[in-house]
Amino acid sequence: MSKYFPSVKELPPDPLFGLKARFTSDSRSDKVDLGIGAYRDNNGKPWILPAVKKAEAQLVSGANYNHEYLSIEGFAGFVNSAARIILGDDSVAIKENRLLSQQSLSGTGALHVAGKFLKEFYHKSDAKIYLSKPTWANHNQIFQTLGFETATYPYWDNDTKSLDLTGFLKAIDDAPKGSIFLLHACAHNPTGLDPSKTQWLEILDKLVANDHLPLFDSAYQGFASGDLELDSYSIRTAVNSKKFSAPIVICQSFAKNCGMYGERVGAVHVIPSETNEALNKAIVSQLKKIIRSEISNPPAYGSKVVATILNDPELFKQWKDDLITMSSRINQMRIKLRDSLVELQTPGTWDHIVNQTGMFSFTGLSSDMVKRLEEKHAVYLVSSGRASVAGLNEHNINKVAKSFDEVVRFYTKSKL
Ligand code: LMR
Repeated sequence: MSKYFPSVKELPPDPLFGLKARFTSDSRSDKVDLGIGAYRDNNGKPWILPAVKKAEAQLVSGANYNHEYLSIEGFAGFVNSAARIILGDDSVAIKENRLLSQQSLSGTGALHVAGKFLKEFYHKSDAKIYLSKPTWANHNQIFQTLGFETATYPYWDNDTKSLDLTGFLKAIDDAPKGSIFLLHACAHNPTGLDPSKTQWLEILDKLVANDHLPLFDSAYQGFASGDLELDSYSIRTAVNSKKFSAPIVICQSFAKNCGMYGERVGAVHVIPSETNEALNKAIVSQLKKIIRSEISNPPAYGSKVVATILNDPELFKQWKDDLITMSSRINQMRIKLRDSLVELQTPGTWDHIVNQTGMFSFTGLSSDMVKRLEEKHAVYLVSSGRASVAGLNEHNINKVAKSFDEVVRFYTKSKL
């Protein structure tokens, strides 16, 4: 192709952002976007959380407001509060001085910093990283770009539309000791299917028994159930049990739960199992080197907004109300979609839509059905059949249900 770039090949568009671009250029007035995971209000519009609006007003009118550089590790008022939110005030990791936190470019940046650090310093330098099957498409490319070999563990059982716990546990046992397991802390993306508390205990115990390193991706805390504590159950249990001798790593995003998608607010937390001041200093210095070399220092604005919310009791209460507003509207839409499909007698079973949680429903629609939805009905979903339930509202739910019904019947008929 070129003497200087002989192997460069054009890649297909990113599955999610490519979908967004197709949706934007579609001129049909009744189009519906159930693609990218971003919350919409009942009129299909982006929603600035009331807590965020108030925090922004407070922040920009403050005497000390400026646009100076943050330090490499980020805005302290944000990083410390973010850690408390995810781990709980009484976390043993905080009490025992085993918590090493840095601000990141949202969840993706946190995964990247964590991956880069692990690739260089984790004692098993050839450790594979195990991803759920299916998982968020970006997980694969983040870790492959960093030179990891990725593998999968069974997660979604398509026949029962539920968790394949047996397959998951077996994969944990079969993986070489000391592997890295990426776990969705809550609101699994794309399936919307989370382990129960008892299932989490089994999963965590198995990871401990095999000396694997848990790498938690927490992108939906408070967004799934409306409750910050419940949505951090897996993480808090792993940390507070003190059973892990491997370190625990947490990648935390505030994109969804604060609706701060474009501001890239997040943190990466490394929790070694032993308290060792020299080790702590060494790890922090290496994390800072990665951050400095890649982004110099993290973006300030979003982290200051989130810090304002987390450190002001009234704004914090408002945020908790906002989380309930978002999660309960999504739950209502789940129920409406299920009920409409049942009423239309759409072939198949639809209870999984209400049993799932968070932003997404793994509908069970095939890629052919999804293609037809887009072409014939202007309803946009990811080809895996994942629908962003946040894109549903009172005005489009009937159209969406009827469109689902048409494509399911179309392909059910053509199979007979
Ligand atoms: C999604 O899965 O739709 C979101 O997490 C957006 C993204 O960055 O992929």
